[in-house]
Amino acid sequence: MKKIGILRGMEDSFPEGLIAHINAEYSGVVAEFVEVGAVSQDGFSTYDVILDRISHEVPFYRSYLKWAALKGTYIVNNPFWWSADDKFIDNVIAERVGVAVPKTVILPHKQHPPNTEGKSFRNLQSPLHWQEVFDYIGFPAFLKPHDGGGWRGVTKVNTPEELFRAYDESGTDCMMLQEAIEFTEYYRCYGVGQKHVHIMKYNPGAAHHERYSAVPQEPIRPEMYAKLERDVLALCRALGYDLNTVELAVRDGVPYAIDFMNPAPDGDYHSVTAPNYDWIVRTMGAFLVEKAMEDRPHTTFTANGALEPFGGFSLDRAKAQATDALETAREKAAGIADRLGDDVAEAVEQVKKAAAKGRKKVQEVVADVVADAPAKPKRAPRAKKTD
Ligand SMILES: Nc1ncnc2c1ncn2[C@@H]1O[C@H](COP(=O)(O)OP(=O)(O)O)[C@@H](O)[C@H]1O
Ligand SMILES: [Mg+2]
Repeated sequence: MKKIGILRGMEDSFPEGLIAHINAEYSGVVAEFVEVGAVSQDGFSTYDVILDRISHEVPFYRSYLKWAALKGTYIVNNPFWWSADDKFIDNVIAERVGVAVPKTVILPHKQHPPNTEGKSFRNLQSPLHWQEVFDYIGFPAFLKPHDGGGWRGVTKVNTPEELFRAYDESGTDCMMLQEAIEFTEYYRCYGVGQKHVHIMKYNPGAAHHERYSAVPQEPIRPEMYAKLERDVLALCRALGYDLNTVELAVRDGVPYAIDFMNPAPDGDYHSVTAPNYDWIVRTMGAFLVEKAMEDRPHTTFTANGALEPFGGFSLDRAKAQATDALETAREKAAGIADRLGDDVAEAVEQVKKAAAKGRKKVQEVVADVVADAPAKPKRAPRAKKTD
């Protein structure tokens, strides 16, 4: 039976919906909430797939998920890349894959981050060349953290004075200043499995509970639909995210990607509304099951954010490997027995002890024993030079 785990924080509705859906609709697989305690580096992960909804807020979970990934669990989303990216470098990646983004700069922290002081920043230009920044970005602009979420610390500024006021209040965050896109349409799109896209009209100016409903009702033009879909897939593939939302603001017919680093996007029934909730539960459920059922090479982080085969091992695979190793050990022991004659009992004992301790130890000891074997044959001692 394959096992899908969900790791969540305060969130309700989406995780419960997913678990109920998977358990009702699929066989050969079970979905449940992850249970985790102290994690031993020598242990095995018992999940085939984990959906991570919370590790950005809990460093213990992030470390656990990196561990589970190396033990062969497929993690949505890739915890290595999620640990590495930020909105600023994601903008650069977006441009590389042909997606328009607002002009953006990052600014040094307004206040010293923890455990730093003035002397830590001797490399910083002072004062900053603000006029160059203003000439490049223009006004209005948005000041926002380079790794924010949930609109935390997002401020629209119309003048240098408003910018300095907001910057002064930004504390220890690393802030981005970004050209404001004065949009005529705004879309929020789910990307799932780097292949499925669900485009939702979104009204960021509406009250929170009406952002998906207080929107123009006419259908999206086919060319716009195709362009949005293309951009969402390009971004999710470039970033290696299997679950993401991409926000796009359309100016002069061109969609600009505003916010596309959302590896744990809102899926709450009450906020995204029933049809969108239904889509994300079904599509995510199908994708998690597909991954759980796959007999795949496991994956890990690479510098460009892509997922590439990694020689990790699942519990089943580990058991098979241990059995193989034991068989190899037995064969080696028999070979050694032939060569060592009387030392056979000792060599076999060593291998048996190692086998009990696990596959890794078996391999080490077998390697040691084999390496030692030629040095130990029972030959007549060489005559001493003095003789
Ligand atoms: N460059 C921009 N141009 C226009 N609107 C923006 C821009 N940046 C942010 N916004 C507005 O602010 C909201 C929150 O900013 P966003 O980048 O999505 O941050 P968060 O990750 O906190 O959601 C967006 O939904 C959008 O309405
Ligand atoms: Mg956003």
